[in-house]
Amino acid sequence: MNSNRRNFIRTSTLVTAAFGVFPSILRAGPANEKLTVGLIGCLGMGFSNLKAFLKQPNVECGALCDVDQNVLNERAAEVEKLQGKKPLLYTDYRKLLENKDIDAVINATPDHWHALIAINAMETGKALYTEKPLANSIQECNLMVAAQKRYKSVVQVGQWQRSDPHWKAVVDYIHAGNIGRIRSVRAWSYVGWKGSIPVVPDSVVPAGVDYDFWLGPAPKRPFNKNRFHFTFRWYWDYAGRLLADWGVHLLDYALFGMDQYVPKSVMATGGKYAFPDDAMETPDTCMAVYDFGDFGVLWDHTIGIYGANYGNRGHGVAFVGEWGTLVADRSGWEVISESTSVSAKKDFIKVPLQKGTGKGLDLHVANFIDCIKTGAKPNCDIETGAHIARISHLGNISYRLGRKVFWDPVKQEFKGDAEANKMVYANYRAPWVLPKV
Ligand SMILES: NC(=O)c1ccc[n+]([C@@H]2O[C@H](COP(=O)([O-])OP(=O)(O)OC[C@H]3O[C@@H](n4cnc5c(N)ncnc54)[C@H](O)[C@@H]3O)[C@@H](O)[C@H]2O)c1
Repeated sequence: MNSNRRNFIRTSTLVTAAFGVFPSILRAGPANEKLTVGLIGCLGMGFSNLKAFLKQPNVECGALCDVDQNVLNERAAEVEKLQGKKPLLYTDYRKLLENKDIDAVINATPDHWHALIAINAMETGKALYTEKPLANSIQECNLMVAAQKRYKSVVQVGQWQRSDPHWKAVVDYIHAGNIGRIRSVRAWSYVGWKGSIPVVPDSVVPAGVDYDFWLGPAPKRPFNKNRFHFTFRWYWDYAGRLLADWGVHLLDYALFGMDQYVPKSVMATGGKYAFPDDAMETPDTCMAVYDFGDFGVLWDHTIGIYGANYGNRGHGVAFVGEWGTLVADRSGWEVISESTSVSAKKDFIKVPLQKGTGKGLDLHVANFIDCIKTGAKPNCDIETGAHIARISHLGNISYRLGRKVFWDPVKQEFKGDAEANKMVYANYRAPWVLPKV
């Protein structure tokens, strides 16, 4: 920890003790309480995250790291414009982690890199903001949780809806029992803007890209632009597509609302129904049913249509109660009454649309910084991130096996299912190895 960070934490603790209050007073502290962050993976979400960090007082970007020199140069110029100071540039994240002036690291690489970079960052004592899904396999999720325990790291997972106030209001409303008994919860992501990805031949690696480093622990293969920036998400080697991408955000709230986290079984089905011959490996249409004994959770995704879910909501969660249905998405939430059914409640008061703040990401980053100062548990701590990434992987494993699977949360394995159990583990390509924790 550098002296600035020690200062940042010590002074903040004193201020907390003196005033007995938290974030706003802490952020108004002396100008030299600087937090220096390093960003690993600078293109899409990584840069959105960094911009949210730079909106916070006393935060500076000290370093950028990317295996694509083109991305690195472009983002370096943007950072210089934003903060008036050049960050150090790295192409090997291990060198960035050796830099003792970096207090906190943002890990926004593709999913197949999350675990290794995150564990290495925790080993060096840095605070960590790491993107969702927590990891690309259940084994890696478990190892990351163990690393956080061992190194006592401050870790925030990038599920920023956990800091968005209207989602908290949704959970409070459901927990108060306001819509009666809930037997069915639906979560969906309908990605209407997205069409097919045409098959293209493998090609030479673009200049400035260290493609072997980009692949890292994933299997070696020739460069193909479909499997690279952004569109890597449609390939199992690197990600778990919509179930693991939007799924972690939305299923998280489905389970948080129901306050039950371990399904008895999962059955997923679907396929490449829309674009059977295109380049995507992952299904463009998928439904996964999680059975919790006395209620079920349905995950439903499609590519190429928005559907007409509860008034054209392209994504969302719906808690279907006996008296009404609460529907929530990133823009807000409302409750529709169950007016004519046998279970309808005469005096039920529906809730008109309650708009969200649209500031979830900024608040999530602010929460992380507060936790670095105070030692409090971040809004999306590593256990929360691991639990929901596991739930998504269970659905993907069922889909890939084409059958129902039964999970044992104590043993962290499938019940009597050797074939499914093989899919719990990550298979790293040498020389990369999963660290021992
Ligand atoms: N929280 C959210 O709302 C949200 C939204 C979008 C994406 N994400 C997550 O962010 C992650 C990145 O997604 P994206 O869409 O930004 O991808 P992207 O392809 O746009 O960016 C990833 C960047 O990481 C770089 N990279 C790859 N391996 C690296 C390594 N070993 N070291 C340094 N840099 C490396 C790539 O070159 C690229 O610049 C994914 O895990 C995704 O699920 C989260």
